Amino acid sequence: MAEERKTSIHGEWSSRWVYILAATGSAVGLGNIWKFPYITGENGGGAFVMVYLVCIAIIGIPVMMGEVLIGHRTKKSPVNALIDLSKEAGAWKGWVALGWLAMLSGYLILTYYSVVAGWALAYIFKAGSGAFTGASAEEISAVFDEMLAQPATLVIWMSIVIVFTLAIVGQGVQKGLEQAVRYMMPGLLIILILLVGYSMNSGKFMEGVAFLFQPDFSELTARGVLVALGHAFFTLSLASGVMMTYGAYLPEGTSIAKTSIAVAAADTIVALLAGLAIFPIVFANDLSPSEGPGLVFVTLPIAFGQMPFGTFFGTLFFLMLTLAAFTSAISLVEPSVAWLVERVGLPRGRAALFAGIGIWAIALICALSFNVTSEMRLFKKNFFDLMDFGTSNIMLPLGGLLIAIYTAWVMTAESTKSELELGDSHAYTTWQTLMRYVTPLAIIVMFLNALGLIDLTQ
Ligand code: PHE
Repeated sequence: MAEERKTSIHGEWSSRWVYILAATGSAVGLGNIWKFPYITGENGGGAFVMVYLVCIAIIGIPVMMGEVLIGHRTKKSPVNALIDLSKEAGAWKGWVALGWLAMLSGYLILTYYSVVAGWALAYIFKAGSGAFTGASAEEISAVFDEMLAQPATLVIWMSIVIVFTLAIVGQGVQKGLEQAVRYMMPGLLIILILLVGYSMNSGKFMEGVAFLFQPDFSELTARGVLVALGHAFFTLSLASGVMMTYGAYLPEGTSIAKTSIAVAAADTIVALLAGLAIFPIVFANDLSPSEGPGLVFVTLPIAFGQMPFGTFFGTLFFLMLTLAAFTSAISLVEPSVAWLVERVGLPRGRAALFAGIGIWAIALICALSFNVTSEMRLFKKNFFDLMDFGTSNIMLPLGGLLIAIYTAWVMTAESTKSELELGDSHAYTTWQTLMRYVTPLAIIVMFLNALGLIDLTQ
């Protein structure tokens, strides 16, 4: 296959730094700033954080390497990558299903993701108008509830997110994705540092530090362990076709192992810094860290509303959340757009338009499930929750399991070795062992537990 190796028809990243920026941009998103703090709050803090860090290190990083190597070896989007690789390995053609699963997962995540990104966007203006300053807790939670109750409002904000996302992706890898991450990621980082500084000065900082880093294992439940594993996949953008596709654009001579470690480390640091920005402010105002999804949209505005310069820093917070969401949103649809270009031969702009129409239609159903169709439930969940649950807790772990099996058992050691460029080192055997045994086992235990076949809660 070496002689066929050219660049992807979509182009490639200008440098390995841009790749790290783009992959980190994908990884850092609502998952880090919205979800990580609230699930940490719900699961008792420190001990949960430790489990999460272990999952990132021994499952997340190896799976990311597996995905990037799939993309990099073929220079194609997930579906076509799996077709080529299975040919190369003389493997069963049905493995193409893994490519479909990955691409579909990213596509579906974007539908509900753009609704939440829409909330973040809307909140830049709400916070900026000073609406939260001095407002009572009831008033602030009413703002959130009212927004959810108005279908038109939700649909408008989510539509803006989708149009903007596809406008970027429609420009291509270098002119679109790359330009977006070049500006958005430094902006995000600066805001994050400012917010941590603010929280050090105005919040109960040490309480926040203790909450995040002092493990109390009596607070940890089996469910918490599973949530940590699921979130490790989500936050690193795994099993959604993203890392395969971004890997296809990786310049030659870049170390897949080193860049994966760098991306995972950057993602983790951002999640922890987001926690350090949020919890001290929450504690300083005697609020609870375990309010669930409302943590950043209700609890945090209540806190900012009571604090000096709260309007300014509150607005910055939602700007940061929006930037983080955009650099992830563009990555979620890139695999589908790349596939439409490869398979159907559409020009990029049109491919983005086609992909966007479907996303918008499903996102519409997500948005309406908070109001018009809020009574319609399946397994006690509305459509939005079903999409979230189905992708994060079923499709991503299943994809992760298949990626581990595929790269460590189906592909030849010769081809994975030549992609990872780790030679016969310890590093290679560690990767192989983790992917052959540890990852599949961890995911299977998680599924069995979810099906209720084994009870880890005892
Ligand atoms: N990693 C992103 C986040 O933490 C979400 C995401 C998942 C993005 C899967 C791309 C693919 O918000």
